[in-house]
This record gives sequence, structure tokens and C-alpha cells, in this order.
Amino acid sequence: MHPHQCLLVALLSLLTTALACTTDDDCSLNGICKTNTAAAATCHCDAGWTGSDCGRLDLAPATRWTGYNHTNYTDSAYYGAYGNSSWGGRIIHDPDDPKLFHLLVDQFSHGCGLGGWRPTSFIARAESRNGPQGPYEWVQDVTTSFRHNADVLWSPAEAKYLLWAIGAAVEDPKSCKSIPGSRLPNNVSVSSAPSIRGPWTPFHVTINGTNPAPWPLYSPANKTAQIALAVEDFRIFTAPDSSGEFTRVNENVAWNTTDYSPTWTEDPFIWRDKRGNWHALAHWMIDIVEKNGTKYPRVGAHMFSRRLESGWTFKVQEAFSSTVAFTDGAVETFNRRERSKIFFDEEMTPLYLVSGVQAIGAKSSFTLVQPIGGRWKEYEKELGF
Ligand SMILES: *[C@@H]1O[C@H](CO)[C@@H](O)[C@H](O)[C@H]1NC(C)=O
Ligand SMILES: *[C@@H]1O[C@H](CO)[C@@H](O)[C@H](O)[C@H]1NC(C)=O
Ligand SMILES: *[C@@H]1O[C@H](CO)[C@@H](O)[C@H](O)[C@H]1NC(C)=O
Ligand SMILES: *[C@@H]1O[C@H](CO)[C@@H](O)[C@H](O)[C@H]1NC(C)=O
Ligand SMILES: *[C@@H]1O[C@H](CO)[C@@H](O)[C@H](O)[C@H]1NC(C)=O
Ligand SMILES: *[C@@H]1O[C@H](CO)[C@@H](O)[C@H](O)[C@H]1NC(C)=O
Ligand SMILES: *[C@@H]1O[C@H](CO)[C@@H](O)[C@H](O)[C@H]1NC(C)=O
Ligand SMILES: *[C@@H]1O[C@H](CO)[C@@H](O)[C@H](O)[C@H]1NC(C)=O
Repeated sequence: MHPHQCLLVALLSLLTTALACTTDDDCSLNGICKTNTAAAATCHCDAGWTGSDCGRLDLAPATRWTGYNHTNYTDSAYYGAYGNSSWGGRIIHDPDDPKLFHLLVDQFSHGCGLGGWRPTSFIARAESRNGPQGPYEWVQDVTTSFRHNADVLWSPAEAKYLLWAIGAAVEDPKSCKSIPGSRLPNNVSVSSAPSIRGPWTPFHVTINGTNPAPWPLYSPANKTAQIALAVEDFRIFTAPDSSGEFTRVNENVAWNTTDYSPTWTEDPFIWRDKRGNWHALAHWMIDIVEKNGTKYPRVGAHMFSRRLESGWTFKVQEAFSSTVAFTDGAVETFNRRERSKIFFDEEMTPLYLVSGVQAIGAKSSFTLVQPIGGRWKEYEKELGF
């Protein structure tokens, strides 16, 4: 063999070794491990996922001033200068009006910023008639302070929206001053409503924990009202329905909020994919560990499992970062990008990543909506946007 050919063969075998897979688990359960040639099988990633192991979100450029960015809003009665700062939320497609999207969002009251999240956070509802990316405009305060970590889902079996949050009703904050967790425990509570516009029932406490990540176990083949609920430390519970008792169902995992370790994560978000496998995104805090408290840019981790109760894999690698490309050509690395949630289409293809973001050097924060992959373009076109 010619020495150059030799090198080429060596290089090729190196490449195939790097990309080879033997099971779909090697493809992060975000794709199929398929044999193309006699030589090697490789990962064929589902739409929205990329990388040789399909472990990375295929993020597309975001459009400035979409999402929920009202940090420049001013009100003379506000205590703080951070406008209607917010910290992530969940997009809901209106069931009756295909051109209407809702965003239930954690907002900080009185112009306060992220620093005063406890107790100023409350849940607001915003609407977009410009498509799922927004911009979303405020329409309604859903709760008073203190409510945070809002997440909302339609429960098909219970035929109502379930709104999850931490917190408790407190007196309207008199300043932006933060109050300690010891004075306001982060109990996870749930409320329900027949419509996304309410009326919402009073919250009832489900478990002692924080960062709720619910997912109904309902499927067309099994119309169960059972609901899964993951919280901080990746503790996973299930209950017969939203008003039932929540029981821990999973084993302890090797990653959790044990501070300053490579597997230090918080804020889980869970879902079940089209094949029935389970996934989670979490806020990965690796740069805080490795860069002396710096919070960026590696902020996103992905975990997956064939079962809810056990077998979860965390590859300890970046699934997404805080560096965002914009359609105007700008690229911005945010100081913080947290509470990330995916909006899926009916086939469970990821379309948008919704995160709370804070620019470097800023105290204000907003909710960014960033498209994923390419399917979102057809989705918007089909709806007439
Ligand atoms: C968000 O709003 C601020 C003004 O408060 C602006 O400077 C910034 O460009 C906006 N960012 C995006 C991504 O919309
Ligand atoms: C905030 O910025 C947006 C986008 O540039 C602009 O339309 C809006 O008028 C600004 N609002 C205030 C209060 O400055
Ligand atoms: C800001 O939030 C308040 C409610 O807390 C609302 O009255 C106001 O319309 C919002 N303004 C914008 C621009 O989002
Ligand atoms: C949180 O739950 C505990 C019991 O688990 C209770 O003692 C406490 O009052 C609750 N806190 C709030 C703010 O609801
Ligand atoms: C709630 O959980 C926290 C953190 O795990 C713990 O410190 C606290 O004792 C718990 N409170 C109750 C009432 O169980
Ligand atoms: C339906 O799903 C629930 C929750 O996963 C499960 O407990 C139950 O056994 C399932 N029922 C059937 C008939 O498969
Ligand atoms: C966190 O992970 C460590 C290492 O696996 C384990 O010893 C510890 O019990 C876990 N903590 C929680 C709260 O799950
Ligand atoms: C790490 O950060 C702290 C405070 O933020 C600073 O005092 C210290 O000097 C830093 N250490 C290094 C090695 O940069």
C-alpha cells in the first residue's frame, strides 16, 4: 500500500471507531444505530439532535426581540430598573385557535431582577399571535408572589391544565430584597384549570422539593391519569393523578446537586419520546466547577433512559451552551441560561428551546425562544406564519 493510502486507511478506521455505535443507547436514545456498510454502524439522529452520539441539540439561530423580552419596560411605581424580567416558561398551543400561542412564564414583580427572585417571582401568562417564537405580550397575572418554577401541561386523562410551581402566597413584596429559603420553603404545588386562561384552583402542596418537571404517563393506548414528577436531585415520583399522593419511584442517580462536582446539575426537565424512552435536560454547572464560579458557556446536559425508574445515563458532556446565534448575525454568550424546556410537535420532534437567560454583566433577565433543527419552519408554515 502507498504510504498515503496507509494513512488514509488509518484515518478512516479512526473516524469509524469514533462514530461507531452498537445500540441506540450509544445514540443517546435520540436516534437509531444503523449499519450502513459491512464495516460499521453509525447513529442516525432524530430531527433536532446532532453529534456522532445524537447527544447535542441542533439549535438554529434565534430572532432578537422574540420570546418574552420586556426588560426595557419602565413603570414609575417599580422598585427596580429591570423591567418585566422573567426566567423561562412553557409554551402552550391554544387548543381552539391555531394561530394563538400562550407562554406561562416566571416574571419578577415591581421591576425586580433575578437577584430578588424569592419572593418577587410570580406566574404570568403572555400571548403571541406572531407564531410560537413570539414575541409574547403580557396578558394576565396568573398568581401573586411568591410562585416560581412554573410549568404547565394539559392532562388528557384529567381533561384539565395542570400548573406546577414552588412557593406560597406571601404579602406583596415591599422591595426587591431577596429573602432566604429558610423563610420560604420550596414546596412543589399544583393547581388546575379547564382553560389556559383559568380559573385556577388554589395550589395544593405535592412534595417537599424544588424545580418541578412533570410529565403525564398518558398515551393513546393507555389513557392513565398517572403523572410523573421529577424534582431537584433527580428524584422522580409518580401519582395516580395530580391530586393523588406522590411516591418516589427511581433510584438515586450518580449526579445531583452535590456541589462542585463534574456531575453537578439542577433544574431537570423530563419527557417521553415517540419510542417511549425517557429523556431529561438539566442545567449543568460544570463551568462553575472548572472556571472558579463562572456560569457560562456550558450550561446544558442531557440524560436518557429506557425506563423512568432506573438505567439513566448522563454522559457528562455539553448538550447545549449559553452561546446563541441570532438571525441578525450576532452571536451572544449569555452569563446564564437555565430552566430550559423543549416545545415539541405532535410527533415529539423538538421545535423550540425555551430558557431563562441573563446577559453578561446584566441584572435583568428574559425568556429566550430558540428554534431547534429545521422542522419548526414547516410547523410555522403549516399554521400560516
Ligand atoms: C432584550 O432586551 C434588551 C433591552 O432591554 C436588549 O438590549 C436585547 O438586545 C434584547 N435581547 C434579545 C435577544 O431580544
Ligand atoms: C423596547 O424595545 C422594543 C424593541 O426595540 C421597542 O419596540 C419598545 O418600544 C421598547 N420599549 C421601551 C419601553 O423602551
Ligand atoms: C409588565 O407586567 C405588568 C404586570 O405585572 C403588566 O401590567 C404590564 O403590561 C407588563 N408590560 C409589559 C411590556 O410586558
Ligand atoms: C412546605 O411543606 C411543609 C411540610 O412538608 C410545611 O411544613 C410548610 O409549611 C410548607 N411551606 C409552605 C410555604 O407552604
Ligand atoms: C424538605 O427538604 C429539605 C431539603 O431536602 C429538607 O432540608 C427539609 O428538612 C425538608 N422539610 C420537610 C418538612 O420535610
Ligand atoms: C398504563 O400506564 C400506567 C403508568 O405507566 C401503568 O401503571 C399501567 O400498568 C398501564 N396500564 C396498562 C394496561 O398497560
Ligand atoms: C448524590 O450522588 C451521590 C453519589 O452518587 C450519592 O452518594 C448521594 O446520595 C446523592 N444524593 C442525593 C440527594 O441523591
Ligand atoms: C476565584 O474567585 C474568587 C472570588 O470570585 C477569587 O477571590 C479568587 O481569587 C479566584 N481564584 C482564582 C484561582 O482565580
